[in-house]
Amino acid sequence: MPKISIIGAGNVGSQAAFYSALRGLGDIVLVDVVDGLAAGKALDMLESMPIAGVNSKIIGGSDYALTRDSDIVVVTAGIARKPGMSRHDLIETNSRIMRSVIPEIGKESPESILIVVTNPLDEMVHLAHTLSGFPKQRVLGMAGVLDSVRFRTFIAEELGADVNDVKAMVLGSHGDLMIPLVEYCTVKGEKISNLLSQEKIDVIVERVRKGGVEIVKLLKTGSAFFAPGLSIAAMVEAIIKDQKNIMPCSVLLQGEYGVEDVFIGVPVKLGRNGAEEIIELELNKEERLAFDKSVSQVKTQ
Ligand code: NAI
Ligand code: 2OP
Repeated sequence: MPKISIIGAGNVGSQAAFYSALRGLGDIVLVDVVDGLAAGKALDMLESMPIAGVNSKIIGGSDYALTRDSDIVVVTAGIARKPGMSRHDLIETNSRIMRSVIPEIGKESPESILIVVTNPLDEMVHLAHTLSGFPKQRVLGMAGVLDSVRFRTFIAEELGADVNDVKAMVLGSHGDLMIPLVEYCTVKGEKISNLLSQEKIDVIVERVRKGGVEIVKLLKTGSAFFAPGLSIAAMVEAIIKDQKNIMPCSVLLQGEYGVEDVFIGVPVKLGRNGAEEIIELELNKEERLAFDKSVSQVKTQ
């Protein structure tokens, strides 16, 4: 049975754990600094497995020894935004948390694949790569999957379409400068530019870019967790089942897209070895400019 550890048993971590367990992806370990939180949530999840008909073991605690020899470690430890805060307001606190978490993962599971979720995403995944010393194929950031499903949701809603028929991809940094790729967005193979007015597309693109903040404003005490949790589980599934699915993930670019040494969201082939291939899409002039702007924003943080 594959072993999946999730660091941070808050909103996102516990959803990711639950969806991964429900899908029978492996045994799950939850870790949190708050005494009893991970153990309590793990026990609650375990007790729901007979209904799901799944035999996963789910345990939790504060000791990293529990995570020993994990195949995948997901890092959600850190603080989330409150209204008025940008993802970058989190950088100081969450960098400190990464400095305490990543070395423990390196010690217990040196062969694992790391999926970083903590914000600001692209900066935190870069820091995790540096701190772990793991090869770049084994260090990924989750954000593009979430941003892309938001794009698909809004398009499907606008057109009354089946979500399964909508294909969409969002590239770039996980922030206001992300790039929902309109040219690559289709419904039943038809480009959305043939289905919606430019005005409508612009509104949807802006809503995708502000998708995180829209939820923060409503919740007032935290940020999104259902769609993020399921997005993480989708990445875990692609890796564990060696699906070779193409998903947008934050990975280290070393020459791809003409970019050196920056973690940023691009389409990646996900399989048992992690980020097995970076797919270089052809970008039009406008998308290229937007991508470069997004890269510079990550570089200057
Ligand atoms: P939360 O506050 O519900 O959970 C965070 C958990 O981390 C807490 O239980 C806390 O005790 C724990 N924690 C703090 N320091 C720790 C440490 N040193 N070791 C272990 N656990 C520690 O927050 P939530 O909503 O789960 O969000 C977590 C992070 O994920 C935030 O930074 C948030 O901005 C980010 N996020 C990123 C998304 C993405 O697309 N990349 C999507 C959604 C959230
Ligand atoms: C989001 O996009 C908070 O980054 C998180 O919902």
